[in-house]
Amino acid sequence: MLSQVVQDALNEQINTEFYSSYNYLAMSAFCEQQNFRGCAHWLRMQSDEEHMHARKIYTFMINRSARVVLKEISSPKNNYDSIPHVFQEALTQELEVSRRIDLLYELAFKEKAFAALVELQWFISEQTEEERTARDIVAKFELVKNDPSALLDLDRELASRAPASDPTSGAAGT
Ligand code: FEO
Repeated sequence: MLSQVVQDALNEQINTEFYSSYNYLAMSAFCEQQNFRGCAHWLRMQSDEEHMHARKIYTFMINRSARVVLKEISSPKNNYDSIPHVFQEALTQELEVSRRIDLLYELAFKEKAFAALVELQWFISEQTEEERTARDIVAKFELVKNDPSALLDLDRELASRAPASDPTSGAAGT
């Protein structure tokens, strides 16, 4: 059985992932309003992915007979200075999620929660990927600056993002 302190921390992480999902959806809505449909699409896909991350931890807890406690989700930011600013904030968010996952891993290690360590290893790899992707997009926006045709190309590139496979599919309890 997972210790109470690990259960509390996992519930907190479920909330963080749901907040990320909500925040990405607000970013997507902002891009829609600015007619950057490709950016909006990419961010909506990311919102879906964050939702899956929350459900991955949820499923893990259910499978370990832990008590899931869903908490209030904070209101996201609904306005940005510009489209590049949206992606800078996305990168900041990913760095913060990585920091939280690292702390959670450290706690699970101290608590000898070995099954949780295995579960969290997936998240550590995922965060490495997500940070890199967000950093790449920020770098591209810096490169194109205000060149309209390059911005349109970048928006078109982001429109091609395919949905990720659900990491909880096939797991017991889903
Ligand atoms: Fe699930 Fe991008 O943090």
